[in-house]
Amino acid sequence: MQAQSSFDRHPVLVHPRDYKHIRVEPLTGVLGAEIHDVDLRKPLDPETWDEIRQAFADHQVILFPKQEVTHEQHLAFSRNFGQVIRVPQLHSVDGYPDVQIIRRLASDTGRVVGENWHADSTYLDEPPGAVVMRAVDVPAYGGDTGFLSMYAAYEALSDAYKAMIAPLNIVHSATRIFGSVYQSQNRKYNAAGTKTDLSVELGDREVVHPLVCTHAASGRKFLYLNKTYTQRIEGFTTEESAPILAHLYDHCARFDFTCRARWHKDQVLVWDNRCTMHRAIPDYTGQDRFMSRVTIAGPRPSR
Ligand code: SIN
Repeated sequence: MQAQSSFDRHPVLVHPRDYKHIRVEPLTGVLGAEIHDVDLRKPLDPETWDEIRQAFADHQVILFPKQEVTHEQHLAFSRNFGQVIRVPQLHSVDGYPDVQIIRRLASDTGRVVGENWHADSTYLDEPPGAVVMRAVDVPAYGGDTGFLSMYAAYEALSDAYKAMIAPLNIVHSATRIFGSVYQSQNRKYNAAGTKTDLSVELGDREVVHPLVCTHAASGRKFLYLNKTYTQRIEGFTTEESAPILAHLYDHCARFDFTCRARWHKDQVLVWDNRCTMHRAIPDYTGQDRFMSRVTIAGPRPSR
């Protein structure tokens, strides 16, 4: 019989595999895993890389504890995942334009970068495919990052709902991040956070992506929308879009689709920016937090 409640539709679980070259400790049954027995300061041999790629495809978010990498080593490891790009709204480390910064100072009181569930930069025609983030300086407590699986969110929908949303497209823009909506708000980012002096035209530029996409590597379908950049469903009015989007945001944030990454200094974390969303947890005001990150190109999202 068809499930009457969405909560009867449990997420598809990731089944542990046998690895020969790395040790993989899942964070949850749905997404996230710690990877041990690898040294990211050295080039990876093909067998180890194959296993890391497999673990990344299975778990969508992978963490490597205790990796004291330099900026060059961070970049070299990142290049395994694809072409390195930059997102327009982030500052870079001096001398390393491709190593960008997420930084909040103890004295900062403005908005925290990424405090809503989102995938990065979906206002671009080709949003990032992955992000490789390294903890440079972390608070003594707080400042974790939440992740959720958009595969799990899609797969838990009923067949009838999946059929209803299959043809829909979503209009994305960065208007709330650095466009005209941001400019009209009182609550701003701090200078150490995102660049807010980008052109308002770029911020307001609208891009359309399908609501349901297929991952080029796994062939699995996932939901593709987020509170940060989504404006409305294409062809719908804002009022018509609102209840459908509100239901989907609520559904995606179901606790059993999520994991939480606790940061430790020198931890390197890679997230798949297509089939996951993430959220910076703003619970460390009064402490410094400094992350450096390398962004990997992604294909244009498609059905
Ligand atoms: C981001 O949203 O890109 C930042 C996530 C974080 O700082 O934890």
